[in-house]
Amino acid sequence: MAGADPQALKDTLLAAIGAASTPDALEAIRIEALGKKGELTQAMKSLGQLEGEARREMGQALNAVKDAVTHALESRRSDLAMAELNKRLEEEKVDVSLSHRPETQGVIHPLSRTLEEILAIFAEMGFVVAEGPDIESDYYNFTALNMPEDHPARQEHDTFYMTPNSEGMRKVLRTHTSPVQIRTMEKMKPPIRIIAPGRTYRSDHDATHSPMFHQCEGLVIGDGITMGHLKGCLIEFCRAFFDVDDLPVRFRPSYFPFTEPSAEVDIGCNRDGGGLTIGAGADWLEILGCGMVNPRVLEYCGIDPNAHQGFAFGMGLERLAMLKYGIPDLRPFYDSDLRWMRHYGFMPFDPPSVHLGL
Ligand code: PHE
Repeated sequence: MAGADPQALKDTLLAAIGAASTPDALEAIRIEALGKKGELTQAMKSLGQLEGEARREMGQALNAVKDAVTHALESRRSDLAMAELNKRLEEEKVDVSLSHRPETQGVIHPLSRTLEEILAIFAEMGFVVAEGPDIESDYYNFTALNMPEDHPARQEHDTFYMTPNSEGMRKVLRTHTSPVQIRTMEKMKPPIRIIAPGRTYRSDHDATHSPMFHQCEGLVIGDGITMGHLKGCLIEFCRAFFDVDDLPVRFRPSYFPFTEPSAEVDIGCNRDGGGLTIGAGADWLEILGCGMVNPRVLEYCGIDPNAHQGFAFGMGLERLAMLKYGIPDLRPFYDSDLRWMRHYGFMPFDPPSVHLGL
């Protein structure tokens, strides 16, 4: 092949590459040119038959052809891949303008809506969502929350117990979301700022109690956290949630084994004329429990109470939903009655936002 014509070789190969319409065809050309027995490879091998200057010149020329061919192969390959992708995009188009089906109009349950609103407010304050299991160990639901075996507060929880295992250990359906506090403190180092919504269970059933209900827990742990932070955070929450800027909020001393001091939070309301309006008035409504995390609870979780402090709070979602949206009875919450849903439900395409008002 000493008489190879580099220019002609290059022209032929580039033309073939330009005409290749599939990756397979392109690969065949590559093998034909640059494979072991390829034209270009053979031409390069036969360089040895040339002498001196002629050999140098031919070598350079062939190298230039090789570069040009390699480059052309690459760019054709990416062109073909792009064309293939565009073809697929064209073919696999989804028509999002498909008209909706009026017969399947869904609505958001008031409980989901209430939770979304609560999360929107706390997310704005830098809280993140945490979760824990519905079926809890006695340790997380009670003991680590400073309610040891014979603590009287345990009785007040109307606990559902599971069948004991072979060692006599019985799990419980969590009676509150507070065990998520413990699970979080075991996993995360301070600073901690979590909000933990979920199902809770107590053996209680009437117009205002359901054996399954929902709570939302909050926990903040850090350096130098005080009751002032707790108050600021919860007053802000109440005013944002009920959308009343000057909503009166009061903290009434209370008792929870896992917080010290503890308080219950009331908001102002008015019962004049038989109705109920949230806002300044003669009456108060209790809406949540809170307090500074008991140092004993911090110790259970391996956090040094001298280095870190915090506050916690818990609220019932059903109660908040009923108060905000004027829903008089708790029971239909779980009846899946479409007439009730259409009356109290929310538009799915209108999610709550702190900026647009809740
Ligand atoms: N777990 C308490 C309850 O179920 C509420 C609460 C949570 C109180 C956190 C204080 C702190 O009533």
